[in-house]
Amino acid sequence: MAITSPEKRVWWNEPLHRPEVIWITIAFLWGLLMFGMMVYWHVAGRQNLSNEAYKVFPEKFAEKVEDMVAKYKVREEGATKIPVVRPPPGSDVYVLSRLWEWWPILELEKGATYRLHLSSMDWQHGFSLQPVNINIQVHPGYDLVLSITPDKAGEYTIVCNEFCGIGHHQMIGKIHVVDKK
Ligand code: CUA
Repeated sequence: MAITSPEKRVWWNEPLHRPEVIWITIAFLWGLLMFGMMVYWHVAGRQNLSNEAYKVFPEKFAEKVEDMVAKYKVREEGATKIPVVRPPPGSDVYVLSRLWEWWPILELEKGATYRLHLSSMDWQHGFSLQPVNINIQVHPGYDLVLSITPDKAGEYTIVCNEFCGIGHHQMIGKIHVVDKK
């Protein structure tokens, strides 16, 4: 028993009991199986998107987001007048996270593919896209890039799902997906 001191000081040379060997073997094989499943599900499962990640300075990332907003802003929404941008299909689109907002609101076309970039200006946030349940951790200093093709028109909500302080519960963003006209 682990809560009593070992009888011999050099306990690690004692032979293993059979049940212990069996359990270690089972745990090891299970671990190998689970490891294999990560690879298998990556290919075969309906997993969360796999991303690319690049190092980026927060200010540089913010510049790119602001460029996109300046070019493709179509209107503003809500009391805080958050810009809604409609970048061309196939382009690089950006959402930044900071205490405590997702900025700006993207308006994407159904069926078009975009490269979505996510990064944080301060500390870690969680990008949880509802109701489709996509979850991505968003870190400062990293540009996470996801290839996305929205397949259903509607309004999607970004919920921050990493606790990030007093405004965490209010950190809610939006992505619109529209049918092309
Ligand atoms: Cu951002 Cu919680």
